[in-house]
Amino acid sequence: MARTLTTQRYPIISPTLPDAEEMEDVIRRSFSSGRITSGEQVEALEYEVSRRVEVRNAVAVSSGTSGLMLLIRALDLPDGSEVITPSFTFAATSHALLWNGLRPVFCDSEPDTFTMDAEAAASLITERTSAIYPVCIFGAPGDIDSYVRLAERHNLALIFDSAQGLGSSYKGRQVGGFGSGEVFSLSPTKVVTAIEGGLVTTDDDYLAEKIRRMRDYGKAEDGEDMHWLGLSARMEEINAAVGRWSLSRIDTWIAARKAIMDAYRERLEGIPGISFQKIPSHGRSSRNYMVILLDPHISPVTRDELYLLLKEDGIQTKRYFYPALHNQRLYSDIEPGCSVRLPVAEMIASRSLALPMYSHMPLRAVDEICYRIITHVSVDG
Ligand SMILES: Cc1ncc(COP(=O)(O)O)c(C=O)c1O
Repeated sequence: MARTLTTQRYPIISPTLPDAEEMEDVIRRSFSSGRITSGEQVEALEYEVSRRVEVRNAVAVSSGTSGLMLLIRALDLPDGSEVITPSFTFAATSHALLWNGLRPVFCDSEPDTFTMDAEAAASLITERTSAIYPVCIFGAPGDIDSYVRLAERHNLALIFDSAQGLGSSYKGRQVGGFGSGEVFSLSPTKVVTAIEGGLVTTDDDYLAEKIRRMRDYGKAEDGEDMHWLGLSARMEEINAAVGRWSLSRIDTWIAARKAIMDAYRERLEGIPGISFQKIPSHGRSSRNYMVILLDPHISPVTRDELYLLLKEDGIQTKRYFYPALHNQRLYSDIEPGCSVRLPVAEMIASRSLALPMYSHMPLRAVDEICYRIITHVSVDG
């Protein structure tokens, strides 16, 4: 293992992008045709994603957040009804519910995979529940069979926030084809990026067409009459072209990330107090983030101390996801006292630290980062 630390700063993520010249042709074609948004590149991206995910429809939108807002709106869930969703996720998951006048009911997570606990979700279903809304956590799909069974048994909508899950799979099937619909993000922090962007995937042709209209204000086919309450959430041609470039390399990048993650695990395995997210054996993860947990009862430094120590070393990490959503100011009034039934979410959120991870990251960087971590968490470090 390298014993010297270079002065190079290690960012938590770094988007893997094409050379600007590679995009010149597309930009020129798009500018000269005048179709700079929702044109041939967007259509091609939608087609390629639907092929890859083996789903009937993929609708490109401006971001994962707008995709979630539109998918949820398009499902016409009853006003004020309850949607069961994890507390240990990124805020955009539940923001999309608030934007739609729905009430998030925060559910606990599994301690090993960090994904929504299906049994805990079952215990939260009431006559006010309209949907179950799990999340692909750092690329790990949850217990999808149990979510599907639960939704079917109680006649509930099933929506997936798979923002981090493009390239993940569950029991041999690509994430993106489950439930009423799923949403991927193509933001710069994702394995496949379109600079910014999102995709709604669904096998429901009517739902897809509705969202296609709703991403364009909600206009009917005639382009004049407004049929639905929509957003201005179209995808631009340049974004779609970068997204296609990125998508075509997805398997190479996931393999590279797996090698990086394996290297991290190999070096940190057995260090007292450090544990890892479990990737379920029935699933494949996009490996969007490399997250460790630091147990404050075992490690001589807490997660927050390690975060600061690494920052001083020039290593950027992220307390992710932190705070858990039920502890964020915006959500703290929704169900005061709900933390008593969210012990796992509280535990993970207080211990999790995302380490630098990106597709073109050299393994040498893992050596240096791990060397620093081991030094800081060693009793005599
Ligand atoms: C779990 C989750 N949901 C939703 C989003 C929102 O996606 P976007 O940033 O494309 O709006 C993200 C993005 O980081 C995310 O990680």
